[in-house]
Order: sequence, then structure tokens, then C-alpha cells
Amino acid sequence: MRAELVVAQTHRFTRIDPLLPPARPVAEGLELVATLPDGDRVAGKLSAPTTAPENWMLHPVIGDKGTRGMDAILRAARAALDGTETQPAASCTVTWPSRDAEATRALLDHGFAPSSALAIRTASGEPASPGDIRIRTSRPCLDTFVLDAELAGAPAGTVTVSEVDVADAGPLGALLLTGRWGLLRGPLVPETVRRRGSGSALMAAAHAELGRAGIGRSHLVHDPHDPVTTVFLHRHGYRPLWTTWTARPLSVMR
Ligand SMILES: CC(C)(COP(=O)(O)OP(=O)(O)OC[C@H]1O[C@@H](n2cnc3c(N)ncnc32)[C@H](O)[C@@H]1OP(=O)(O)O)[C@@H](O)C(=O)NCCC(=O)NCCS
Repeated sequence: MRAELVVAQTHRFTRIDPLLPPARPVAEGLELVATLPDGDRVAGKLSAPTTAPENWMLHPVIGDKGTRGMDAILRAARAALDGTETQPAASCTVTWPSRDAEATRALLDHGFAPSSALAIRTASGEPASPGDIRIRTSRPCLDTFVLDAELAGAPAGTVTVSEVDVADAGPLGALLLTGRWGLLRGPLVPETVRRRGSGSALMAAAHAELGRAGIGRSHLVHDPHDPVTTVFLHRHGYRPLWTTWTARPLSVMR
């Protein structure tokens, strides 16, 4: 049953968002199965916490079942956690395709809220940034470069960019299509010089450096609640691929 659900989930993911990699089974964790009212079944794995405070990770395998499937597996996870000793500060997370509106409905109904987003950029093109910002590039190691912005001789922000090879079997292979990607950490611009274009200049320089290395795709993780970051990233061609949903504390999970 699990193998069929994984195949159906891959097809559904591809329909929702062609930039999602194929779904893959999760090896470790407590096996969950839930039966829908029409007799269809969905599955999932609940990974035991490895961090303090406890963070349970749910990996739903709901095939093409959308809201009903996500609802059923979240109920099964809640029941399994009810039968487990958990700490008061424990939480549960689900990382799921951002564009899946059907699953979003069920996650919200069960007390989950978005806690982080993995956003990607695959297109070229950049909004114009002012010409009075200087960018310095350094390479602390072979696959990483750091860009520092200067405005009128004073520091005006930084971004760190890594070149990442995503393989099918590696941990990132569950999130991104295989091949070479850029990974951005930042940018971070000092508050006193924000809104003067240095964040944009850093993004343009980061994408240009990646382009020179033959990498046309990049990703980063951001806080989906921050309205400035969300607008800024959209301006620079990023859009969410995966959203991590969290129920914290576990008592808010229904
Ligand atoms: C996000 C951040 C890097 C932006 O840097 P910045 O130098 O202020 O950005 P820019 O001046 O280049 O702004 C580019 C565009 O982003 C958007 N933007 C930036 N700040 C904004 C704000 N306070 N309100 C609304 N839109 C904003 C606008 O669309 C702006 O274009 P516009 O000025 O033509 O309207 C900066 O606010 C920051 O360091 N924030 C904290 C760290 C962070 O969240 N980093 C992002 C991690 S993914």
C-alpha cells in the first residue's frame, strides 16, 4: 500500500508544482495508517524527537487524497502522540508543498501554523539597484562565497552563498530537484541603511556570481510571517516551494 501511495503522491506533487522532486518513503519512525470513510487508506511516519525541546516530525504519505487524506493522517498522529509520553514544550512539524491548498486547509484545522518556508528562484532577471553601492566578494572556502556591501564607505549588509550539489539519495534530494543549486544565507542589512537598495544589490551580485559558476537556481529558508522579507524575496524572483508547519506546544495540535 505504501509504495502505491508514494507513486500517487509523486503524481499529485508534480501536478501541484513541477519543481517538486519525486516523493520518497521515509525509513525511520513510528508507522501510521488511517482509513478514510470510503475505505481508502493513507499512511505516514512519525519520527521520534532528536532535539530538545522535543520536536516530532510527521511525514504524511497520503497519495492523491488532499484535504481528507491530510486530515486523517493528522488525526492518526494526534492519537499516536496521545499514547506517548511527551514534554510540555514538545512540538510537531510537517514539511509540505507550499502550493498544496487542500492540505493547507487540514493543517490549519488541526492547529498547525507556518513556521518557515524554503523558497526557490529559477528564473533570471533582476530589478535595477542603485549604482552607489560597492560589493566586495571573498571566498572563505571552495564552495562558499561571502558578499559584503558598502554604501558611502560604510558597511551596508552581507550575504553568504554556497554552491550545493543535490543528489537523489541525499537529505536535500527530498526537497529539491537534483543538480546544482545556490544556497543563500541572508542577506542581512543593518537597520540604519535599509531601504536604500543594498539588499537588492547583494541579491543581484549573488545571482550573478552563481551564474558565472553555471548555477541558475538558488534556494533559501525564510520566515513566512515577516512581511518585509516576503515582499523583498518576491521582488528577487523567489517563491515558496515547501512550507514547514508547526504545532507548538503539542497541546494545540487537534
Ligand atoms: C530584507 C532586507 C535584506 C532588505 O534589505 P534592503 O537593503 O532594505 O532592501 P532594498 O532597499 O534593496 O529593497 C528592495 C525591495 O524590497 C522591498 N522592501 C524592502 N524593505 C521593505 C519595507 N520595510 N517595507 C516594504 N517593502 C520593503 C521593497 O519592494 C523594496 O523595493 P522598493 O524600495 O523599490 O519598494 C532587510 O530588510 C533585512 O536585512 N532584514 C532582516 C534580515 C532578513 O530578513 N533577511 C532576509 C533573509 S531571507
